[in-house]
Amino acid sequence: MYKLKRFFITRNALNRQKYISAVIKEVEDRIKPWRKIPGPLSLPIIGQLLHFLPGGWLYKRTIELQELLYKSYGPIVRLDGNLGFPPITFIFDPEAAIKLFRKEDPLPVRPGFDCLVYYRKHFYNKHEDDPNGVILDHGETWKKLRSLMNPAMLRTKAIKPFASVLAEVADDMVDRLRSKRNKQNMIEDNLFTELNLWALESVGAVTLGDRLNCLDPNLPDDSPAKKLIDALHESLRILDKLDFQPSLWKYITTPSYKKGMEIFNVLLRVNKFFIERSIQNLKSKEETNDENKWIIEKILELDRNVAVTLANDLFLAGVDTSAGTALAILYLLAANPDKQNKLREEVMSKHTRTYLKACIKEALRLYPIVGGNFRKTTKEHDVLGYRIPKNMIVIIGNQYLCSVEDQFPQPTQFLPERWIVERNDPLYYGNAHPFAYAPFRFGVRSCVGRRIAELEIEILISKIVENFKLDWIGPPPKRTRRSTINYILEPYNFVFNDI
Ligand code: HEM
Repeated sequence: MYKLKRFFITRNALNRQKYISAVIKEVEDRIKPWRKIPGPLSLPIIGQLLHFLPGGWLYKRTIELQELLYKSYGPIVRLDGNLGFPPITFIFDPEAAIKLFRKEDPLPVRPGFDCLVYYRKHFYNKHEDDPNGVILDHGETWKKLRSLMNPAMLRTKAIKPFASVLAEVADDMVDRLRSKRNKQNMIEDNLFTELNLWALESVGAVTLGDRLNCLDPNLPDDSPAKKLIDALHESLRILDKLDFQPSLWKYITTPSYKKGMEIFNVLLRVNKFFIERSIQNLKSKEETNDENKWIIEKILELDRNVAVTLANDLFLAGVDTSAGTALAILYLLAANPDKQNKLREEVMSKHTRTYLKACIKEALRLYPIVGGNFRKTTKEHDVLGYRIPKNMIVIIGNQYLCSVEDQFPQPTQFLPERWIVERNDPLYYGNAHPFAYAPFRFGVRSCVGRRIAELEIEILISKIVENFKLDWIGPPPKRTRRSTINYILEPYNFVFNDI
């Protein structure tokens, strides 16, 4: 009797197993290969390149790319690689994206900046296994660097002491803006470049504990600060050319490749100069407790060479991003005087920063500085009926997701209120999918400079609205994307009237 029972149990278990395998096979058979993902028409040899060349429908459509792809092909889109460009899968479904992210390796891989990796590996690092930096490394090397930076940069306690130096920098910036106005109270020089100086001075001050003097009106052309500004800009331009536009540098030595290797070298040399200077300054500083240490003091505990690389990373990642975001907030406030007045009232009352924070969040929704969430898959995934292979670049289209009515009602309006209203209000931001809006992204690999960026931007914007009434003349500015960053283009038709 017992044997008979076991026989039936075993047979049932085998049948169940067979059934499950059959179901899995059927589901798997329905999963289509990556090649079948919808995307622009691909021709033999040149693939999809023609769409991106002059005359093609995607030529220079950098800002609109996500919207065009979604509207033409739906929530998952395939872009074939070409001319040194790897293939990319765009995902515009936040639920599918979240599932993919959850299944990924706990140490995520972000692609890009191959030429900088090449430079650091071949021309800068002393040993084969030296780290390439927090932006570029992956796996355990990245984890080690990141765990060193997190406590210095993401803890509120660690960031608080930076407020006074950031306020000093913002005051200098306000003075500089005042002095740069013409008779119509417009800034004659390029405002974005000006904001870059402010952002670099701010990152420099908190990283090195030292003022770089970028805002000095008499900054000589051969000063280290000027060299740093120029090298940083040229590096970002070359990075875009080599890694985010079709380029053959991986196969042949192109002029841009040569220029890139030279300029990355200049950048690291100038950085070294500033690090050495701050090491000297630190020697004369009294011993302080850990919370009052500058970032460089904490990362110098690792290794001097690595400290140079990490400071370099903070400059590369923390200047255009903060400057571009500050520019977007200023434009949105100038174009929405009622919101600007409301913010000024709050700033003048000095009681809370709720509306200020909401203005920053809303600006990052409307003018996200980084449009997508970039990852290289560490395993195979089945997404929306398609198989995405391992080592595939995946971009989550957050920029598009933030601009649609079903995520954010009245999506084109600047409505900081959506970040403050109660849950029962239709505007309430919490009604959007949590994966739709993520200007600093999610999880362990999200922006390490987030707290610093928020603090410096809050301080600058409050000082500007305290001192100036902003107006904007003419139509909204145009935008473009270079490498991973969205830029607001000139002319910057601001009027900075005194309060
Ligand atoms: C409004 C300003 C900023 C925005 C919107 C922004 C956004 C981002 C985004 C989207 C990433 C990629 C995260 C990911 O792949 O998951 C990132 C990474 C990073 N950001 Fe920021 N950022 C800003 C300012 C800054 C500042 C001021 C610094 C430096 C002080 C900084 C340093 C970094 C670094 C080092 C990384 C690489 C982190 C890693 O891979 O572990 N960022 N940022």
